[in-house]
Amino acid sequence: MSEKRLPLESSTILSLSNKLGTPFHIYDARAIRKNAEEMKNAFSWADGFINYFAVKALPNIHILSLLSSLGFGADCSSLPELLLAKEAGFSDEKIMFSSNDTADDEFAFANELQAIINIDDITHIDDVIRVLGRLPEKISFRYNPGKERTGNVIIGNPVEAKYGLRNDQIIPAYKRAKEKGVKHFYLHTMVASNELNEDYIVETARMLFDLVWKIKKEAGVHIEQIDLGGGIGIPYRPEEEKISFYSLSEKIHSLYRNMIEKCGYGRLRISFECGRCITGPYGFLVTKVRHVANKYKNFVGVDASMADLMRPALYGSYHHITVLGKEDKANDHIYDVTGSLCENNDKFAIDRKLPKIEKGDILVIHDTGAHGHAMGFNYNAKLRHAEYLIDDDGIYRIRRDETYEDYVRTMLREKERI
Ligand code: LLP
Repeated sequence: MSEKRLPLESSTILSLSNKLGTPFHIYDARAIRKNAEEMKNAFSWADGFINYFAVKALPNIHILSLLSSLGFGADCSSLPELLLAKEAGFSDEKIMFSSNDTADDEFAFANELQAIINIDDITHIDDVIRVLGRLPEKISFRYNPGKERTGNVIIGNPVEAKYGLRNDQIIPAYKRAKEKGVKHFYLHTMVASNELNEDYIVETARMLFDLVWKIKKEAGVHIEQIDLGGGIGIPYRPEEEKISFYSLSEKIHSLYRNMIEKCGYGRLRISFECGRCITGPYGFLVTKVRHVANKYKNFVGVDASMADLMRPALYGSYHHITVLGKEDKANDHIYDVTGSLCENNDKFAIDRKLPKIEKGDILVIHDTGAHGHAMGFNYNAKLRHAEYLIDDDGIYRIRRDETYEDYVRTMLREKERI
């Protein structure tokens, strides 16, 4: 069981909602820091261990700077994410560029930042050479194991997935990179998303430990660092259990001893690029009930919409909901909790048992600290909402509400002939 806790007293969140207006996302910096430190401590046995925080999960500069100050790296997937990482203070070795279907200017800028370019397809070797005139001194390849692994709903079955080099392409890729003068080699994979079974992640480590040997033997290349990708899950449902960084780390350590250390592989650093398990549980979407409607079902209409959090609509994901001030009441009513988009899947919950809800109630939607605000969009001209950060010395606004002027600023008032 995982406890669904609030970041502040219920009454404090109620008065914040009155003061600030709803909806908004609020993140708990204290909990993020503690959790990030826990991951570092758990893997302290692994020399050079690093988690490149997946910027896509929570691309706010204040969060990124916080993680940078703790020694985390940044995993970027686009040029704007690289710019964010740069602005937040990450540099060279601490930036992993794990993109796919990559544009030339993205390769060029990643190289300018001296980020580790994680190549997603064998044909991209030529793209990088064409753009940079050579391969960079350090290079990573993203491995897709195909039938060897099963994948899961969000990331997809490896055989169906658009990512990574096939099993039969990985050795030729390293051979070619070596011929082209690459000096430092990395190996990456990402075969899970929101995975709560730690053994699945451990199996990914086993797969890469095997593969580094194969690459050494068949391509004559020593991989210096493996990246196990993101994908460590979080308990969105109260009945689910959190993955323990310590238990996961211990299992990976045991494999490392047997498959790497004892066999004399030499130095091999371990990295992840987790986003969700770092910030996910420490973000909350606070929203106010506008209407309670009784149609063929009972609907609670709130002032947030799927433009603020699209995971339930997109993946049918569960996000826990707390009705502030009614924590002790029985969950004896059944509601669909909806936003105001003209999209019938604009729902935060379907057939959810909750206490009796009234107009004006404040709901807290849990676990929005990763892939929450980040996935927002402007359909129905919905404006995106503010983000706040709770820290030891107070609460800070770290993004203001979007305004109509923000929304129309790319629309030309005077049309331009082209
Ligand atoms: N690295 C790569 C290359 C990725 O594609 C992703 C996520 C991550 C790292 C971070 O994964 P995390 O540790 O945050 O699970 N929007 C979806 C998740 C999509 C995952 C895409 N890639 C969601 O809301 O669940």
